[in-house]
Amino acid sequence: MPLQPGEDAGVVAPDDATAQPEDDASTVVNEDASLSHADAGTSTTSDGGTGPVPTYTWWGDVRAIVHDKCLLCHTRPPQFGAPRPFVDWADTHQRTNRNVPVHEMMAYRINAPQNAMPPPGQPQLSREERDIIRIWSEQGAPEGTPPADGGVEDDAGVAEDGGETFPDASIVPDAGASGRTIDVVAHNANNTDPYDIPVTTTQYLCWSVTVSQSMSAEEYAYAFEPLIVNTAHLHHLLLFKNTAGDASEGPFDCESWDLQWDLIGGWAPGRGTEVMPMGVGVKLEPGMQLVVQAHYDSVTAMGQTDQSGFRVLTTDISGLTEAGMLWSGVSWFNAINGANVDHVGTCTINTPITIFSAFPHMHRLGTRITLEVQRANTATWTTLVDIDPWSFNDQPNIVIDPAEQQINPGDKLRTHCWWNTNGQSISFGEASHDEMCFNFIYHYPLMSNQYSCWSIAL
Ligand code: HEC
Repeated sequence: MPLQPGEDAGVVAPDDATAQPEDDASTVVNEDASLSHADAGTSTTSDGGTGPVPTYTWWGDVRAIVHDKCLLCHTRPPQFGAPRPFVDWADTHQRTNRNVPVHEMMAYRINAPQNAMPPPGQPQLSREERDIIRIWSEQGAPEGTPPADGGVEDDAGVAEDGGETFPDASIVPDAGASGRTIDVVAHNANNTDPYDIPVTTTQYLCWSVTVSQSMSAEEYAYAFEPLIVNTAHLHHLLLFKNTAGDASEGPFDCESWDLQWDLIGGWAPGRGTEVMPMGVGVKLEPGMQLVVQAHYDSVTAMGQTDQSGFRVLTTDISGLTEAGMLWSGVSWFNAINGANVDHVGTCTINTPITIFSAFPHMHRLGTRITLEVQRANTATWTTLVDIDPWSFNDQPNIVIDPAEQQINPGDKLRTHCWWNTNGQSISFGEASHDEMCFNFIYHYPLMSNQYSCWSIAL
């Protein structure tokens, strides 16, 4: 019997429900500390610990939160790899295959140290909302009283189509230039038929397309449109350019990828087309490849197919500024081992650049990753990205706050990673049993040394 999603390595379902309140209590204490740090003086009344515990019900409190923050995926039928719906109260009283009521699993996963729900990059629960769901579950997850209309199903949270229509003409940088579309999508081996997804808990597969030899000398990709076909099981997509052009057409396994691939795009549920800033593009050269990685989840029956991927829009307009990835992070010689080990990589940027988004990247044992900037001649570090807890399954592309996008000579960038290695000694490397620590930072103009922010810990 295969492991169920959410019950695999690192995500321990609450077998022993009575252990949860203590665990949760300590989580809440920590959060109180960081909360009062962040907005000192505003949270005077929270959890005084003396008043009566409030009573929460599905109809009164919980349903609105769950419909707002979970139903993009946990709808009926579930979407984007989610294993089950949370549409009705009865759904929350089903039992998991480890015989735990679903509402306890919900209360656990919204506070879990790894693979927390909702996934990073999605609208998150507030601390108050998490407390409501936790306390509701501890009280047996009561239904309460439906409203007079019987709670006719509203549309809240119904899955949006990630990659709807072709982007409108307004994003074309110059109507006078010519361009192409290059589709890189899932298919079966040796033909273009939709890919037959095997029955599997979770899998990462790649396909490549070689950019034509006959293209113009200068061609730039300026928009990445997700083509989303199998909404039930597609969990996310990543898009790379592979300058070496040596990847097979696919499908091939690629839970981890070659360090020579450059990440250039990503899709997660709810996201649409990514368009480069005006006048900016990713340079394509003859013979190189575009590679798409698809992550499928919760495929429990045969007969599922997929043809998802990206439509890449290119232009041969001259004078575009080249965008690309700055590698901010750290590698190490001595294996790391510990429940809370970390590494930090810091560098000083010497040329003016604009940074517009970041793809944080670690492997399965990562617990948190941050990206910070320190302006020249100041002492303060400003947080640009903080994925806490980290989830290998959900690697979002984080848009950088426009107020912080300009980086000037003398500014420092710092990437900080934390891991729990579960008692193992872990090397740096690209294989999935190794670990990595990078923020791939989208920026322009492309730095002559994209790796200048990659440091080595001895
Ligand atoms: C963007 C999609 C998405 C959103 C939004 C989302 N989830 Fe999930 N959820 C998933 C996927 C995919 C899985 C399966 C993989 C895993 O377990 O990490 C999952 C698994 C779970 C599981 C494990 C269920 C089981 O049977 O193993 C729980 C519990 C859960 N989610 C709770 C929540 C709650 C509560 C919310 C809202 C507060 C939420 N999720 C929002 C995608 C989502």
